[in-house]
Amino acid sequence: MTKALFINGSPRKNGNTAQLLKRAMDGAREAGAEVELVNLYDRSLNYKGCMSCFACKIKGGKKGVCSFKDDLQPILQKAVEADVLVCGSPNYCGYPSAALRAFMERMEFPAVNYSDYSKPVVLKRICSATIYTMNCPNEEVYRQMNYPILMDTAAQQLGVFGPTEILCSFDTYQFPNYDRYDAATFDATHKAEVRDTQFSNDMEKAYKLGKRLVKRCHE
Ligand SMILES: Cc1cc2nc3c(=O)[nH]c(=O)nc-3n(C[C@H](O)[C@H](O)[C@H](O)COP(=O)(O)O)c2cc1C
Repeated sequence: MTKALFINGSPRKNGNTAQLLKRAMDGAREAGAEVELVNLYDRSLNYKGCMSCFACKIKGGKKGVCSFKDDLQPILQKAVEADVLVCGSPNYCGYPSAALRAFMERMEFPAVNYSDYSKPVVLKRICSATIYTMNCPNEEVYRQMNYPILMDTAAQQLGVFGPTEILCSFDTYQFPNYDRYDAATFDATHKAEVRDTQFSNDMEKAYKLGKRLVKRCHE
């Protein structure tokens, strides 16, 4: 059965990122995949980024997957065995969240082949995507802020495992109640409108993305 793994790099288990990931899961499930969601900020998960142990580079050692023993290792093992991998993260200060960056380091570094960069160590083909959510209002500002370099570069590295794509959800609804916070830059009425229109469209895009990835992994 097709295995689809979803990685939530937001601390909010029902925030914008999680909602889009769950919709992508619906799509993948309906396309016939077995789906699983991991919340990287779950308090039971204790891990860091790459520890520079070089176990993945040792002559005759286990290649293609990080074997540093901590709570992320079994998740990374599942990720390299998955047919479909969808990562999600809010934009945090211009970058994917620290938790997702750490995951990506540990997912991607074992694929780097120090003996021949042109031959990455890929155990199996994975069709992947990254879903980003942010306050940034649109694609034009996304470009002005250099986000294609800061955000997309990290996501595109998943392309080493197989086809990959990025879905951005802009101008997301951040606070349950805007009146409670010092956030005069944001117009709560506008944000609610975006949530009810544009974000709903993004949910549909996420659903289709989940379906598409499962189909793609059989092509
Ligand atoms: C620590 C922090 C930093 C943020 N930095 C940015 C930023 O640099 N650019 C941006 O567009 N949004 C930024 N945001 C807004 C979030 O990316 C946005 O609200 C996102 O949709 C939250 O995702 P979530 O609902 O899944 O937690 C930031 C939010 C937080 C909490």
